[in-house]
Amino acid sequence: MILVTGCAGFIGANFVHAWLERTGEAVINLDRLTYAGNPENLASLRGDPRHVFVQGDIGDRALVGALLAQYRPRAVLHFAAESHVDRSILGPGEFIQTNIVGTFGLLEMVREYWGRLPESAPEGPDRRGFRFLHVSTDEVYGTLAPADPPFAETHPHLPNSPYAASKAASDHLVRAWHHTYGLPVLTTNCSNNYGPYQFPEKLIPLVIHNALAGKPLPIYGDGQQVRDWLYVEDHCLAIMRVLESGTVGETYNIGGWNEQPNLAVVQTICTVLDGLHPRSDGGGYAGQITFVQDRPGHDRRYAIDARKIARALGWKPLETFASGILKTVRWYLEHPEWVQGVTSGAYRQWVDRQYGGTKER
Ligand code: NAD
Ligand code: DAU
Repeated sequence: MILVTGCAGFIGANFVHAWLERTGEAVINLDRLTYAGNPENLASLRGDPRHVFVQGDIGDRALVGALLAQYRPRAVLHFAAESHVDRSILGPGEFIQTNIVGTFGLLEMVREYWGRLPESAPEGPDRRGFRFLHVSTDEVYGTLAPADPPFAETHPHLPNSPYAASKAASDHLVRAWHHTYGLPVLTTNCSNNYGPYQFPEKLIPLVIHNALAGKPLPIYGDGQQVRDWLYVEDHCLAIMRVLESGTVGETYNIGGWNEQPNLAVVQTICTVLDGLHPRSDGGGYAGQITFVQDRPGHDRRYAIDARKIARALGWKPLETFASGILKTVRWYLEHPEWVQGVTSGAYRQWVDRQYGGTKER
């Protein structure tokens, strides 16, 4: 049995589906159900005894302690976080609370639990048969100039947004809990994910949603900021590989070898939509592209050097961007009820606040 945090969100939900399909091993899912957590992402698991959902905060030590004592998981995988950069700029408080203070509380409870586990091997970090895997981001490394090499695991943490700073702080806490207390941790730093169940505040689902609704497709600044895009299932498979075969105390970068400027990503989505779901007026979706004010402190380029995980653990992405984006657009077209469910009151308020009525009509 494993305990996972934040698995009613985008990556976590994809992870639980992928995990149960491949391993069948039971999962305890601790999630606070913030605006980004959606039980519908796990609807197909209702009644499945291999998935136990618990609504609660990672910082609730009594709850975390009770769950660890009751279920005695062999691993804790930590996905829960506030994850959206724009929201962190408008209101950093929740990011500090969950990503830093919440991770601290979780680490303390896990340390206490781990310390009391019986030793099943004579020595070494795996002697109690337990691992803590921390899911983090490439944003902790800062930004790259066009000719810079991609981020390797040895790149210093130089975060630029409140979100990135809060994730960087959590990486440091995890590292320190290993170095000082010996907690058997693994950390993964991944690039931009896309795929099913992503909340439409993030670029790719936002663009698909707005395109279909006949709304502007907002491009920040000149649209030449570069991100590396990875299909979410590939990220989930990488996490499984690191959990099972990674070396305790190490960090693994995960990426898609797929750097693209934002404008190119949006144009690709428009082309895919033109093919799968042409506009009724005969126009192309690219006609809805609108350049808007840039994000403050916007990082210019992220790129991941994923050679370590390939070399050490034999992981590489299975999807190309062409195959992944086609699957993704198809999924959103086939699940209008999911999009409608999440674009409710709270979502509308966010859009009004962030885009000031200029991007959404
Ligand atoms: P998300 O915002 O879609 O989901 C986050 C989940 O965490 C939600 O279900 C939410 O309810 C839950 N949560 C938030 N605060 C909580 C708390 N205090 N206690 C318990 N649950 C809480 O995020 P995501 O995009 O799925 O990202 C998951 C993890 O992966 C995050 O740690 C993020 O930093 C990391 N990551 C994301 C990406 C990406 O492209 N989305 C890339 C690399 C790493
Ligand atoms: O790099 C990994 C990170 O990727 C994760 O750690 C974060 O949790 C995740 O949200 C994501 O962060 P980004 O800021 O890169 O993702 P977002 O989808 O918000 O934006 C992607 C790029 O598109 C970024 O350069 C900003 C730009 N953008 C975004 C939105 C929402 C636009 O041009 N217009 C938009 O409306």
